[in-house]
Amino acid sequence: MTSTITTLSTELSALLRERFCAAFPDSPEAAAAGRVTPSAKPGFGDWQCSDALQLARSLHMPPRAVAEKAATALPLPGILEKIEVAGPGYLNLTLKPEALAERAFATAEDAVNGGVPQTGAGKTVVLDYSSPNVAKSMHIGHIRSTVIGGALVGIFKAQGYRVVGDNHIGDWGTQFGIIIKGWREFADKDAIARDPVPELERIYKESYARAKADPAWMEACRLETVKLQQGDPENRALWQDFIRMSQHTFDEIYQRLGISFDTTRGESWYQPQLPGIVERLEKAGLAKESRGAIVVDVRELDPALAEQSRAAVDAALAGGDAESAAREDGKWIFIVRKEDGGYNYNTTDLATMDTRVREYAPEKIVIVTDDRQIPHFKQLYLVSEKLGLVPSGTELVHVAFGTITDKDGHPFSTRQGGMPKLKELLDEAHARALEIVREKNPELDAAAAGALAEKIGVGAVKYSDLATDPATTIRFSWEAVFALQGNSGPYLQYAHARIRSLLAKFDAAFPGEDRANAEFLPTDDVERRLLRRLVAYPDAVGAAAAKCKPSLLADFLYGLAQDYSAFYQRLPVLKAEDPGIRNGRARLCAAVAATLKRGLALLGIDAPDRM
Ligand code: ARG
Repeated sequence: MTSTITTLSTELSALLRERFCAAFPDSPEAAAAGRVTPSAKPGFGDWQCSDALQLARSLHMPPRAVAEKAATALPLPGILEKIEVAGPGYLNLTLKPEALAERAFATAEDAVNGGVPQTGAGKTVVLDYSSPNVAKSMHIGHIRSTVIGGALVGIFKAQGYRVVGDNHIGDWGTQFGIIIKGWREFADKDAIARDPVPELERIYKESYARAKADPAWMEACRLETVKLQQGDPENRALWQDFIRMSQHTFDEIYQRLGISFDTTRGESWYQPQLPGIVERLEKAGLAKESRGAIVVDVRELDPALAEQSRAAVDAALAGGDAESAAREDGKWIFIVRKEDGGYNYNTTDLATMDTRVREYAPEKIVIVTDDRQIPHFKQLYLVSEKLGLVPSGTELVHVAFGTITDKDGHPFSTRQGGMPKLKELLDEAHARALEIVREKNPELDAAAAGALAEKIGVGAVKYSDLATDPATTIRFSWEAVFALQGNSGPYLQYAHARIRSLLAKFDAAFPGEDRANAEFLPTDDVERRLLRRLVAYPDAVGAAAAKCKPSLLADFLYGLAQDYSAFYQRLPVLKAEDPGIRNGRARLCAAVAATLKRGLALLGIDAPDRM
């Protein structure tokens, strides 16, 4: 099957635009009119357009008259049953039922892309996600970057993009001197053998505390870092060990989450390029010396920022708060070489940008981190553009997500205190899913039940994250994660599995019937609604990609499951008396199951055939 070039909504927009242009050939605004949205209520057609209301203003005409003129400007296109003018000047489009059904099935039954236009063909997206730090456990906060990034990989690939998933591990910096010093003095080698990362974390914390209390310890840590950076073999070997141990722990989590990367380039990889980056900044006149450091004052690159910063500083000074004035002032200083001559996160990210552009020539670079890094990426993107590291037209996106709190909005913590570790979280999800599996499938053996519980448990945790707009905070509750009646992973998996079992029953009861090629014409509004939903799958994928919000796809899937359940409650499938209707409805059910499975797969969630 060939892939669709456009979606139905784009096609309808184009049809309407033609009519607006024909009706008002002299209006430049008419050439931009015709945007459609699915109609929210029955009786308002299938798609709606409200552009006549705006156009009326520039044409100095009553909106209804504008709508009427557009509606009748050209003969009715073949796929439409009618165009009606409603209310103050809406255009309601009703498709011919056979056209709607034909499009819905063409979309849902397109095994290659599910009707998603291949707008990314020949283009590349670099996706920087997960990117945890060495010698620290991945906690529940890291799950967001990993899971959102993983879903974006699927979504962009569905549009035909080449996706380069890059795990930008935090494997460089002064923390390594602190760990090396602690390692030498008080590492517990047995604890390392048992479970290295928590012990590395303990070593870091304790050594850091000592450094703060004792200047000699601090100096010793600093010297260890310098030795490491100068290539001292012993320190380098230790450092490599820490990375290896951490990577092993990360990989266990990635395996459970079904996440893989195309490349894992840590911060250390870019270190040889850093002096060159600073040199370029200086040559371009962007960086200057300030109290021994080399900095870019980002305000000089953007007058609006300068204005904003001046206002904030003035306000603080007017309030007599010199300290916060200094803080406001410092916010815009992008340090690229520290006073001690060392480079930092900023310099590394500039080099990363440079490398990615040169190596992959991407159309977009998307970086997923928590929202505390919003200022960092604003400045990074600005400096990169001014320095000419990225060609104009390259889209730089920072997907910034909110934190996860407990269900009351308090910082998430376990009973023992501290953030729960990702592994513990997944283990608990598994245990809860296993209860559901045992209850619904008492006959499954332990191995099969365990495998199913892992799919459901991991899927539930991932989905609860993905269904939330990345920009917002998550209030985590196990009740919501496993809500079998709400917007949850298990609800969608269950909806899918129920349809699969219905189809199995159908095939057993009516073995000779060719449901895959059955005729289907909607007889009821619940069926029409379902077809409208199915046909909008490519739009949902497109919106999720354009806004980097997997939640838009999750919303779509939840809506689909709800529309299906309305259909199923109202109309019989297996018990439909007319064989033609029965076959047609079975085909509709199969289309829904395929779409649920395909959409969940883009989000990185398995849809098993049974629950
Ligand atoms: N390692 C960083 C952290 O845990 C995230 C890195 C994101 N990627 C980047 N290119 N800066 O906060």
